[in-house]
Amino acid sequence: MSQDQQPPAGSPDAQVEMRSWPRGTSALRYGGDYNPEQWPREIWLEDIALMREAGINLVSIGIFSWALLEPREGEFDFSFLDDILSLLADAGIDVDLGTPTAAPPAWFWKKYPQARVITRDGVTLGRGSRGMGSPSSPEYRACAARITTELARRYASHPAVRMWHVHNEYGAPVSDCYSEQSVAAFRTWLRAKYATLDLVNEAWGTTFWGQRYGAWDEIDAPKTSASVVNPSQRLDFQRFTSDALLECYVLERDIIRSFSPDTPITTNFMATNCPSVDYWKWAREVDVVANDHYLAAERLDNHIMLAMDADFTRSLAGSRPWMLMEHSTSAVNWQPRNIAKRPGEMARNSLSHVARGADAVMFFQFRASRFGAEKFHSAMLPHDGTSSRIWREVGQLGASLGSLSAVRSTRVDARVGIVWDIESFWAQDLEWRPSEDLDHRERIEAFYTVLWNLGITVDFVHPEHHLDGYDVVLMPASYSISDHARDNLESYVSRGGKLVVSYFSGIVDERDSVPAGGYPGQLRRILGLTVTEWLPLRASESIILDNGATADVWAEDIVLDGAAVEARYATGPAVGKPALTRHEYGKGAAWYVSTRLDSHGLASYLTGILETARIRPHFTLPDGVETVTRVSDTEQFIFVINHTDEATTVPSAGHDLLSGNETVAGSALPPGAVCVIRQPRAT
Ligand code: GAL
Repeated sequence: MSQDQQPPAGSPDAQVEMRSWPRGTSALRYGGDYNPEQWPREIWLEDIALMREAGINLVSIGIFSWALLEPREGEFDFSFLDDILSLLADAGIDVDLGTPTAAPPAWFWKKYPQARVITRDGVTLGRGSRGMGSPSSPEYRACAARITTELARRYASHPAVRMWHVHNEYGAPVSDCYSEQSVAAFRTWLRAKYATLDLVNEAWGTTFWGQRYGAWDEIDAPKTSASVVNPSQRLDFQRFTSDALLECYVLERDIIRSFSPDTPITTNFMATNCPSVDYWKWAREVDVVANDHYLAAERLDNHIMLAMDADFTRSLAGSRPWMLMEHSTSAVNWQPRNIAKRPGEMARNSLSHVARGADAVMFFQFRASRFGAEKFHSAMLPHDGTSSRIWREVGQLGASLGSLSAVRSTRVDARVGIVWDIESFWAQDLEWRPSEDLDHRERIEAFYTVLWNLGITVDFVHPEHHLDGYDVVLMPASYSISDHARDNLESYVSRGGKLVVSYFSGIVDERDSVPAGGYPGQLRRILGLTVTEWLPLRASESIILDNGATADVWAEDIVLDGAAVEARYATGPAVGKPALTRHEYGKGAAWYVSTRLDSHGLASYLTGILETARIRPHFTLPDGVETVTRVSDTEQFIFVINHTDEATTVPSAGHDLLSGNETVAGSALPPGAVCVIRQPRAT
């Protein structure tokens, strides 16, 4: 936004604009969770000096401090926060102040046992850990509101507080709850959604297995039952759960906003790794999208999955700058084998997030805990202190981020969108599907990996959102497609869009009901075909297509209705039948992939489709070398991240912001190294 376009000071738009990023430094944000309550005050002074040494400019405080701040119900003691906040303010280190509602104190659990979470199997969760009360508990909400009010009142104008961090990771470790309080709230939610019981009965298809409801209080949460519980009911319960958690966030946010209207408020997401929350809905409610990402460290392609998570986060942020709120300097402590990051890996991870739109790089946590459940988790300052490799790399990363100020607020543009719809995942993950090998996450990762390997940046999209900005939309796994999404996809393609659909998509509507006619009912028109029978393959059975590709998991019996065949099954149960098809639809086209192609076959098929939209890699680089470009109106910043053990070459000339050197195309980029080439924007 230019100066002339600034909204008038004090207007609601100006407040929204002010809240779009923590005010203060023009550098990228750098820091982490900081838990000073675990340490004596003299250590705080050392910590603050070390933070300054490492270039840290933002720390998240107070996230788990409820028991300290409200030692007895309604009695508050803010002395520790007063003290640490003023020390940080004096040192020029900004604070992202947490509300501590992810870990209620012991007095809360003792006084309000009815607020405890009950699992689907009927287990009442015990105490002595962390985890909120039942999201629908009135007592939990009232207590959360009270501590939030006291914090917001006291610190709204504190000079250190540049941002508010509501709660911690809604959806983990608490998500769905089956307590009586939740059941009551579920009924209220259903009344608001359907208004009448008849409509609930219709939406859930309760004539099946004689499940018809005659009174609201006959409806229960979908607890573990004698057999499979009504899938439409379970799907609604998932939606209810996400909404109940969101209400808890909004409750706290609105309290803070009433005291602190200009300061951004966020909560930390777990982008592609939170199975219980619909982030497309949530992203509208935060001022800045913030994300926590931890590598699935044992996976050799964990850097690709990191990129996927970052691209999804940027997409949630609507392409505005976002914050990496947590990641780890090295190993976590909660995976089966906690693989340590090798030298340089932490910086590659961090810079990959920045390349994909993050303007903040934060860690869990600043100083490693000496006790408690997370004492073996890596930190910025490990147990062996400042002589450690990790601390050295933390300082180097601080310097690197300091040299990247020019990328702040620049964009990442993408011409390809991949559909991500958690409601569809919820629906598909219910019981009794045609094959246990149908795995939506696996398909999305496979499609994403093809694009990552080609160096083509993608956004993630919701099927009901505006898609016209994308030349190609990929839909690797969307079992359920709402009627609205179906219409949206049809109009996208008819206006010239290119859509690629993979098997087991568009099978049901948003109620988990099969539309009349053959499969895939929501996509038949657009794909120009009908699937008359699914032909799931046996475990480890593989088949061949007549274009030479191999495939497994799934085949189908397809009858064409306007689509053209691009490849047929050469072996397996659908031999001779269409396997890959293309359908011209309006001004655009829709492709269908009816089987699980192996990675090579998928890559070559998708490359051909992308070529029809003239989407090709900008640079040809060896496998394992990542490139992403951030752009402003006048400049571009090409990130090149060498994840391999071999030297590679820099693909383009310009000023490398990290080394400070001018580079020429073809100069060497050592194994594991990163460069960020600044250039005038290509026209
Ligand atoms: C996150 C959580 C942090 C810390 C971290 C450890 O999910 O928000 O508080 O527990 O995991 O990896």
